[in-house]
Amino acid sequence: MSDLRVIAIDGPAGSGKSTVARGVADRLGLGYLDTGAMYRAVACAVLRRGVDPADADAVVDVARSIDLDLTRDACVVDGVDATADIRGPEVTGAVSVVAANPGVRTEMVFRQRAWATERGGGVMEGRDIGSVVFPDATLKVYLTASAEVRAQRRAGEAGGQDVAVVGADIERRDAADSGREMSPLVEAPGAVVVDTSDLGIDEVVDLVVGMLP
Ligand code: DC
Repeated sequence: MSDLRVIAIDGPAGSGKSTVARGVADRLGLGYLDTGAMYRAVACAVLRRGVDPADADAVVDVARSIDLDLTRDACVVDGVDATADIRGPEVTGAVSVVAANPGVRTEMVFRQRAWATERGGGVMEGRDIGSVVFPDATLKVYLTASAEVRAQRRAGEAGGQDVAVVGADIERRDAADSGREMSPLVEAPGAVVVDTSDLGIDEVVDLVVGMLP
């Protein structure tokens, strides 16, 4: 086990990762890193620079060169605020192919490890934190929820979008995230699986904090 106190929270879209990870970080007074926002920021820079998301080499160049300032509440890409853009439909449409690019992942994993090392650890949420980024994390949690509940949550966050449309988009991204060759979405060995379908946020945060060694 490394000296870092890393709490890894992985799972599919709409499983409650962000809300739970933020709650755990607040409760413990630790930093919080949304690694999905990092892949979204790369996708955003790719679109802004007019690069084709399918042009693997050009996308890696973007990932290596972007100046990314990600805080709990804001995302600034190359000095320009991207907090809203990274959640918009264009970025959401392009992010899966960007996140499946091995060179992009290598660069982001490097930055994620550096983030944790600088702080002595923190709460990190994503798809591959417990499996790839920090396989010896202090605690690994894999959150799930039924497809229906996940679609409802995301549709609510998106300002009351159609649940069926959001559900189809989540399914497409789940399939891409789970089926990609490098670092697919998996339950990491040693991860505790928590189904959040019928649990409130505080209940899940309590559960996770209670599991800490
Ligand atoms: O959690 P999210 O929906 O914001 O993630 C955006 C995309 O990035 C999604 O397609 C999954 C991918 N992702 C990833 O591949 N690895 C991570 N550690 C986090 C997110």
